[in-house]
Amino acid sequence: MATRQKSAKSAPKAAQVEVKEKTQSKPNSTIAPAKGKLGVMIPGMGAVATTFVAGVEAIRQGLAKPIGSLTQMGTVRLGKRTEGRSPKIKEFVPLARLDDLVFTGWDIFEDNMYEAASNAGVLDHRLLEQLKPFLSSVTPRAAVFDHNYVKKIDGPNVKKGKSKMDLAEQLRADIREFRKSSGASRLVTMWCGSTESYIEPTAAHQSVKAFEKGLRESDEMIAPSMIYAYASLMEGVPFANGAPNLTVDLPVMLELSRQNEAPICGKDFKTGQTLMKTVLAPAFKARLLGLSGWYSTNILGNRDGEVLDDPGSFKTKEESKLGVLEHILQPGLYPELYGNIFHKVRINYYPPRGDNKEGWDNIDIFGWLGYPMQIKVDFLCRDSILAAPIVLDLVLFVDLAQRCPELKGIGIQEWLSFYFKSPMTAPGLYPEHDLFIQLMKLKNTLRHLKGEELITHLGLEYYD
Ligand SMILES: NC(=O)c1ccc[n+]([C@@H]2O[C@H](COP(=O)([O-])OP(=O)(O)OC[C@H]3O[C@@H](n4cnc5c(N)ncnc54)[C@H](O)[C@@H]3O)[C@@H](O)[C@H]2O)c1
Repeated sequence: MATRQKSAKSAPKAAQVEVKEKTQSKPNSTIAPAKGKLGVMIPGMGAVATTFVAGVEAIRQGLAKPIGSLTQMGTVRLGKRTEGRSPKIKEFVPLARLDDLVFTGWDIFEDNMYEAASNAGVLDHRLLEQLKPFLSSVTPRAAVFDHNYVKKIDGPNVKKGKSKMDLAEQLRADIREFRKSSGASRLVTMWCGSTESYIEPTAAHQSVKAFEKGLRESDEMIAPSMIYAYASLMEGVPFANGAPNLTVDLPVMLELSRQNEAPICGKDFKTGQTLMKTVLAPAFKARLLGLSGWYSTNILGNRDGEVLDDPGSFKTKEESKLGVLEHILQPGLYPELYGNIFHKVRINYYPPRGDNKEGWDNIDIFGWLGYPMQIKVDFLCRDSILAAPIVLDLVLFVDLAQRCPELKGIGIQEWLSFYFKSPMTAPGLYPEHDLFIQLMKLKNTLRHLKGEELITHLGLEYYD
């Protein structure tokens, strides 16, 4: 499906949220230390999950470097440019150490992480052999699954229950068991499961009371990912959503998240084509270059590609991918430049490519006096290689959020928008998609938490 965006309906809605300005950086209390083990629970032990876990173990064993991870390699500038203070982020805020991470997961297939990683075909055999003892020890728990939500796959490792509430109870029991058997002092859940079919929120998603009634009655509008989210939040465990499904982007989950001080964030990892889109589109807007069309297409041959071959799952992904241009370009403010854009996104399942996706973009722009120009992008990327460091950062940052008195009770962690194609925001607030605004928001949040001055890039003080 393509969208033609019209300026009139595109004006961003005014935020319905109460806004309290944070002009000064004064955190109201200290961050609890990252003591003990951090348990990472992953529904969906496929290509992304196994590339992430194998990568963490490879890094722990000194076999590879955490390239692409802001928490491991990134720095944050503090104070004036003349002060020369740029610590590593992991030294600036108390993050869990890689050595303290322990893992579990759920999947509809019975493969352990070694087998699943071998099947995914992302990492080379030699590396996987070195990691085999560790990866083989992570075996999947039985999943909560509904074929109606993911039509292209089916598997044997699935829980049975009298109702969706019964299934939620079984997941809660899994979580408690893992907490005990792993000795983890803290947990996070990271959804790396397949993209579920497109649905819109209904009455059952509006409050905890309505949702629990829906669980007891096995309401068909409650998707499996929502049952994992409910179970996690009920156990006080933060939940990050790497797929475009609604999952935690619902009033019920916001209510639970706040009530149980378990942060939530999502949706849909921003990895290949959308990453590029959210880099290029802000550049056009910054230079007031117009845009008449953006055609994006992909070939992808992994299981994710197969799942997305189903129109229901593709629609969920499409919605997530289409939203970014409108919010970045603000056609309501710039109707002559962005009031009439033809934007189309396609994903084609093409098995020979496996996880090595190729994403093409044809971009039609126009400049001075309306003269047209074109840009072509051909990104030969590796989907899971781009996603794995995002998973690591989210795990560590969401855990940090739960140890910060200022963040743990606010629900949605908008400061983590940097990692998502379709960032969750407070109701009524439009999302920030520009990658560099997102990065500034993230780093300023860290500065704020530590009582450091926020960086505005004004810079006049250097010329006094
Ligand atoms: N790799 C990327 O660049 C990228 C970017 C954005 C989003 N994503 C999303 O991340 C998710 C994972 O991607 P992937 O490439 O690892 O896909 P994958 O198909 O390799 O893995 C997904 C796994 O989830 C399992 N699963 C499905 N439903 C489940 C359920 N209800 N409970 C437990 N397990 C379940 C499947 O059996 C499969 O093993 C997908 O939703 C994908 O759209 C990936």
